[in-house]
Order: sequence, then C-alpha cells, then structure tokens
Amino acid sequence: MKKVVLTGDRPSGKLHLGHFVGSLQNRIAMQNDYDVFIMLADLQALTDNFKNPTKVSESVFEVCLDYLAVGIDPEKATIFIQSQIPVIFQLTKLYLNLVTVARLSRNPTIKEELKHREFGDSIPAGFLTYPISQAADITCVNAELVPAGSDQVPMIEQTCEIVDTFNSLYCSEEHVLQRPKILLPKAGARLVGIDGQSKMSKSLNNAIFLSDSADEIKSKVMKMYTDPNHLRVQDPGQVEGNVVFEYLDIFGTDKEQIQSMKEHYQRGGLGDVTVKKYLIDVLENLLDPIRKRRDEIATNKDFVWRVLKTGCEKTKERSEQVFKKVQKAMKLNYF
Ligand code: TRP
Repeated sequence: MKKVVLTGDRPSGKLHLGHFVGSLQNRIAMQNDYDVFIMLADLQALTDNFKNPTKVSESVFEVCLDYLAVGIDPEKATIFIQSQIPVIFQLTKLYLNLVTVARLSRNPTIKEELKHREFGDSIPAGFLTYPISQAADITCVNAELVPAGSDQVPMIEQTCEIVDTFNSLYCSEEHVLQRPKILLPKAGARLVGIDGQSKMSKSLNNAIFLSDSADEIKSKVMKMYTDPNHLRVQDPGQVEGNVVFEYLDIFGTDKEQIQSMKEHYQRGGLGDVTVKKYLIDVLENLLDPIRKRRDEIATNKDFVWRVLKTGCEKTKERSEQVFKKVQKAMKLNYF
C-alpha cells in the first residue's frame, strides 16, 4: 500500500512562484509514488478572513486551477475542500478536549501569526484553535507524511501530541490514529520576493504569480532588486543577494551560461538590464505553458468542479472509515 500524504494551502489568493518552488514541484513528484491528498483549507483561511468569505471561496477555484495548470494530476492526487468533509468538524470537536488554551497560546506559529493580525485582545476562538482543526485535517485520512514548510513544524508537533493523547486515553489495544511526520522542503526551496527582502508572499506585494501575464512578468523582473552598488555597466557587481541571479540559479536550465554571466557581472561589463532580459526569457519558458494550460482549463469550469467534487467524495469516504474507529475507541458507537 502506498503511504498516505496530506498537504494543503489556505485559499486566500492565487499561487505564486514561491509555492511552485516550495511545494508544488514536490507534490508533482510525489503524486506518482504516494497516495497524495491535497487540501484547500478554506476553513482555516476563514479563521482570519471570516468577514470576507467570498475571497476564500473564489480562491478555492483559482488555487485548484493553479494546481491543475502546473501538472497536479487529479487521476493520481486527490484534491479536496476542507469544509466539505464533515469528519474534520467532528474530529475537531473531539480533539478540543485534549488541548489546553495555554498550550494553544504557546504555539509558536500562532504567536507569530498573531503579530501580523489586528485582533488585539479579541482573538477569535476559531483562530486560536485552528491547530486543532489542522490535527483533524491530517488525521481524518490518517496521513503518515505531511509535506509543509518549516513554519508548520509546531503544527505537526501539536498534531502528534493530540494523536498521542488520543491513543493513550482511548486505545488500549490498537492505536487508532497515525502519528504524522513533516516532510520539509529541500534546502534552497525557499524563494525570496522580487524585493529581495524576505520570502515571496502575496501580502508583501513581492510575488510573481503563476497566472501573471508576460507583461506583468516583464515589469516585475525589471523592478527586481539587484546590487545597489552596481551603478554603471562597467562596475564590478555582486552576485550574492542579487535576486536576479538567485532566480537564475533556481529556474535557469543552462548552468554554464549562467556561470559565465555571473563571472562577467562580477568582473564588470554586464548590465542589469541584460541579465534581467535573460531572466524574463527563462521565466517565460517556464510560465508560458502553465499560463496556457490554466487559461484552457479555466474555459471548462465544470471540469474543475468535477475534480473537486470527486476529490471531496473520495476523502469523505476515507475519513468516515477513520471516524468509525474513533467513535468505537471513544465508545460513541451507540447504534
Ligand atoms: N497551515 C497550512 C498553511 O498555512 C495549511 C494547512 C491547513 C495544512 N491544514 C493543513 C498543511 C494540513 C498541511 C497539512 O499553509
């Protein structure tokens, strides 16, 4: 039997190159050898977007389009929507008893995220408790592996604590819940934003989206942060920390050409615009087929909704099997 993998994204906007490098490529590789579940975490997106549910539900469709456009194959991977799986709600309710409010307040990811939210003293209970709902996401199909970024380490730790508590309290014979392991991205799979300041992120306004037009890509690359001291073409330039070269290292295919451009830049005599034009071609080669596929799939909305519906049905079925065991372990199997 293939190992069960569960991973997901909060649908709060379209996906960008940072997602491509950090998670999508890995999912495309894994879908052949694992039983991969990819979740659109709309409930989690609502914990801080509950005033704007339309943004969340529209993003569900857009993100699914992004998945399909980059090559996630619905025949291999199961794409589903969190809110459509009743067992996730049911498990969340049962797990709420197993976690203290103090433990939730200490969760480093929650603490970090609270810094950037404007909740003040009015933290919604739904937000504070979303790590519990995330434990339900992962265990509803008893996933063994969870590919996710390092910011998700505390979430998986908290899931493991819930699993351990559940198994030790309710499972005297066989453990019902599987302890998941996080699968971190490979070193170097973190993409800086076009400003070079921090990681690529929609909210920081430094992202290149998978669905950006050729003109948008061009203008974003032209704005990219390079070496601020490289004022004249003939000056020697710095390659380290230069976003254009960082992107070429990640996306360029002709490594020899890139190496010789780096040496030329360091020596002096190679202008930023020349390197940027080269990068625009490299990115267009990658993104043009994705954009075309995306546009094509977008004309067939029914297909996208069918993919999602089928994925939800499969996940529902799987989760009900797990939930039966949970109910039995907790003596809630009355009928
Ligand atoms: N918390 C993840 C994020 O912010 C999204 C997510 C929700 C997730 N549930 C998950 C990821 C379960 C992996 C497994 O990106």
